[in-house]
Order: sequence, then structure tokens, then C-alpha cells
Amino acid sequence: MCGIVGYVGRHNGVPVLLEGLQRLEYRGYDSAGVAVVNGDQLRVHKAEGRVRDLAEGLPKRVNGHVGIAHTRWATHGPPSDVNSHPHLDTEGNIAVVHNGILENAAALRAELEADGVTFTSDTDTEVLAHLIGRSTHEDLEDAVRDALAKVGGTYGLAVIDARQPDRIVVARNGSPVVLGIGNREMFVASDVAALVRHTQQVVLLDDGELATLTADGFTTSTLDRRPTQKETLELDADVSSYDKGGYDHFLRKEIADQPTAVEGTLRGRLDHRFATAHLGGIELTARELRGIRRVKILGCGSAYYSGIVGANIIESLARLPADAEPASEFRYRNPVIDPDTLYLAVSQSGETFDTLAAVQEVQRKGGRVLGVVNVVGSSIARACEGGVYIHAGPEISVASTKAFTSTAVAFALIALHIGRVRDLSPADGERLIGGLERLPEQLEEIMATEEHIARVAGRFSDATSAFFIGRVGGYPVALEGAQKLKEVSYVHAEAYPASELKHGPLALVTTDLPTVVVAPDDHLAAKNISAIEQIKARGGPVVAVGHRVLSELADDTLIVPKNEPELDPILLGVPLQLLAYHAALVLGRDVDQPRNLAKSVTVE
Ligand code: G6P
Repeated sequence: MCGIVGYVGRHNGVPVLLEGLQRLEYRGYDSAGVAVVNGDQLRVHKAEGRVRDLAEGLPKRVNGHVGIAHTRWATHGPPSDVNSHPHLDTEGNIAVVHNGILENAAALRAELEADGVTFTSDTDTEVLAHLIGRSTHEDLEDAVRDALAKVGGTYGLAVIDARQPDRIVVARNGSPVVLGIGNREMFVASDVAALVRHTQQVVLLDDGELATLTADGFTTSTLDRRPTQKETLELDADVSSYDKGGYDHFLRKEIADQPTAVEGTLRGRLDHRFATAHLGGIELTARELRGIRRVKILGCGSAYYSGIVGANIIESLARLPADAEPASEFRYRNPVIDPDTLYLAVSQSGETFDTLAAVQEVQRKGGRVLGVVNVVGSSIARACEGGVYIHAGPEISVASTKAFTSTAVAFALIALHIGRVRDLSPADGERLIGGLERLPEQLEEIMATEEHIARVAGRFSDATSAFFIGRVGGYPVALEGAQKLKEVSYVHAEAYPASELKHGPLALVTTDLPTVVVAPDDHLAAKNISAIEQIKARGGPVVAVGHRVLSELADDTLIVPKNEPELDPILLGVPLQLLAYHAALVLGRDVDQPRNLAKSVTVE
């Protein structure tokens, strides 16, 4: 969603700002803009569409040592040049870029209009620009503080003032702001992806904090003026992991990354001696772990589906009732929070607003939440009492692939850890460790079948609709498979538990509707075979994803290597990622940035 970049220093900031915006494109946006101070004037350029449209329309002479830039995802008012950020005050001195939503913007706007202010956009952000511009404080930080005292809602924001061209003021409440420390220059961004090329030294702002950045450094303080002490973090970011690495798309690269991503998730965590998993971020004693009566996993989108995979693994290994629920629903249904339940919040970005709100709801009612998160230091990771980082490396493509897989692996580690404190035998623990260790190699084996998968994908690029079905462990694989196809190819896809087929969806099965049947060679194989037969009897094309023994039954089969039954769903999902990718390629879709979608949904 919306992205912020800012620069103050000795150099011309424009190239840094434009390159930073390009790095944030993956988050999803509909327009972009930039403002720099040139002499004592603000130069502002905005464009609906892509960052490259903005860059192409930018006069060569535009430059400045201080500037801010933004990619916008429309919330208040449609995508357009005027609604793109930065927004200015009436005098044209103040420029503001803002992520988040101001809840009382309409009331403030009415007040300002009654006072004679003319608005040029439909946005909530413009309210802030006018409030800052009308503040009686001359110092920019004081003026921003003054304005923020009047607004409610969420923000990550950056502000410049043509009259104080040596500084950027930034503030955070619910939307990330990261400061980057350079050599006599400072950067700011809403996401480290925009910073890693310039610096590895970052500072994460907390909610309720402001900072003033100059070329020589920064100061931080709270909204009520108390100075704060910040820790500088050294990013462990491999700059090349933010590039496509020779692939045409981030999506394809990240699918191929999965063996390495899973190694990252497992690294240093498997303990053969006690047949368990070490998870340093779960600071619960064996006694506390034994006191858990239930596990509830909360997440959105693919994170939620990986949560269902995880709940199944936890239930079978730890013998604890476990389930997953969309965080977006959970937070609104006034859930009963049980002190003996372990809540796990799962999120690749660690910034999904609904998931963060669910965490806060659990905590408000005295529950214990641990995070299962990819982005280190993200809002959800910080809000939780600890947890497990999945260490999958940066995921840029909007559609999640390696984070889904690594998250499922992280759940298997959690299941092993809790299971071994409870009733899982050392022999079973060792069996699972063996299975986890085999995953990277088996993922490579699946990659090697890509050509075959690409051929099968033709069935889906020709279809207007498809079904994905699976049973128990295979059901979330079907859900995620359908999700991937929808997201990147725009082919309508629906997932059902295989057992539900006869209770409705079978009515739609015709020769034109392909069905993917997740059919591992497990104790439910006979049931899946009968589902395949029911579909074929009605002329429906069937693509099975499963183990070699079932390969004769379907029209096409995507074969995955066999692991342990609890871990098989982790592998079964991978051919379906490639299937969606190739269907999307045939259809000429923008696979990395599907229409209407954002990488992390930081608003409601
Ligand atoms: C958005 C993305 C999905 C993602 C979901 C949750 O909807 O488009 O790909 O699965 O958010 O994101 P998270 O960062 O919390 O895992």
C-alpha cells in the first residue's frame, strides 16, 4: 500500500526519491508524487499511474537537497493527479506525504473550510498540510506536533517546509516509519526496501514518536515533547534479495527461492539430541507450554491459509485443539479470550492492519499472543510478546509464495516444540526433524518439474472458472492454490473441502471446468480417488497434485515427493504456485502487481 521516501543531505535528492519509490512499487499503488525544496520554493510533481510516468514527466532541472515522495493507494478520493501526495498548505510552503487514515478528517475539513480554506483534493492528508501550515509555531517540528494533537487515526508521515530547507519532520502512529542513517545525509522510508541501497543502519520509530532529520543526524521525541533514546539497528539485508536476480518476475524468483527460504526458517532450530526444535523467541517454560489448552492462529489472506496448515500440524503433533481464523473477522466479533489459549498472529509483512488489531484485541482482554512474522522489527512483531521469525528473506511479489511455505515450516517447528513438551515421542520428534531437513531438496525436485506444470497451466488459462478441492491437510492447500490462481491470473477459482463437493459445487462441473484435486497418498487417498471419479464421471477435467501412486487417475498429475504425512501439505502447495504463475503468463497478466491488490494492507 502507500509508500513514503524522504531524503535530506548533500546530494540532489531526486534520484534517491525516485529510486526509492520504484523499490516500493511492489506494495501496490495507483499514483505517485514527489516534492523537493529548490531555492526557497517547493517543486511538486505528481502523476496518476506508475512511478515511471512520474519520472518521465519530471523536468530535468528539478533538484533539491531535501525532499519527500510517495506512492498512493486510494482511500479518500479516487486515484488522480490531484489526490496523489504530497499535499500542500494554502501558501505552498508545507508539503506532506502520509500513509494511514485520519479518522476525523471530514470534521476537520469542514472546520477549515468554514474558516475560508480551499481544498484542492479529496484526501484526508490535505487536512494535515493545512493544519501544519496554519500552526502558530514557526519551528516545523512544533507545527507538526501541534497539528497531530488535533487528528485521530493512523499515520506514518513526512513533512518538509520551503522556509526550513534543511530538515524533514516525520511521525508515526500505526504506520511504519524507518530512518536510514547515511554519511552526512539521512533517509526515511515506510519500508526498508527503499533504504537498503543507501544504508544498512536504521532506526525504527515507535507509535507516538516524531523525529527531525537533518543532513547531520536526527532527534526523536514523543508527541508530548519528551526526548526518546533510539537504538540503531544494523540491517542484515542482502541487497540482491530486493532484485529479480535474473528472473522475469519477483513471483517466479520467490518460488525458486523456497529451498533457501526454508533453510533460513530451519537454521539453528533443529535439535537432534532431544528430538525437538529450539525457538529462542518463545520464552515459555515447559510448564507454561503444558498449561496451554488450545491454539488459535490469526492472519489474513495467504497468512491465514498457512495458519490453517499450521493448525493441522499443531493439532496432530501437539495433540492440542488448534484452529485458524481470519484476523479481520476475529477482531470484530467480540471474541472470548481464554487465558489458557495460545494465540499466534501470522503475517509476512508484520504490518497488516487487521492482524495487528486482532493482536491488540487479544492483549486488551489479557490474552497471550506470539508472532509468526517475516519482517524483523515490524509492528506485529513488536506488538507480540515474542514469537518466531520465519527468516524467508524479503518477499516483494504481492502474491505470497515463499512466505507461505516458510510460515508453514515455522508452524511445524512450533508444533514440534510444543509436542515434545507434551506427548510427542522422541522417535516421532526425530521423524519430523528428518522430514523438515528433507524439505529444501524436495522443493528443488518440484522446481525441476516446472515445464510439465507450465503445460498443464494451459487448462487454467483457457478456463473461466476452476475448483480446488482437498481434504483435512489438503484443504488449506486447495484454498491457497485457488487464491494464487485468482490473484495472479484473474481466473475465477474456488476451493472446497473435497467432502463438500457433492453438497453443491458438483452442479457446476462440466467439461469446461477444471478441478485441482489435492490427493496425497495418505489415509484419505481412497476418498480423494472417489472424488476424482465423481468429477470425471461428469466430464470434468481433473488435475491431481499428489504422490506418484495416484498419478494414473487424473487427466494430469503434478507429482510431489513424499515427506512425512504432517509435512506433505507444505510441498503440495508449491506446484500450485507454479501453475498459477504459468496460467498468468499465458494470459499476459502483471504477475508481480495484480490489479487492485497490495502487498501489505495497512488500512482497514
Ligand atoms: C494482502 C496480500 C496477501 C497477503 C495478505 C496478508 O492481502 O495481498 O498476499 O497474504 O495481505 O499479508 P501479511 O503481510 O500479513 O502476511
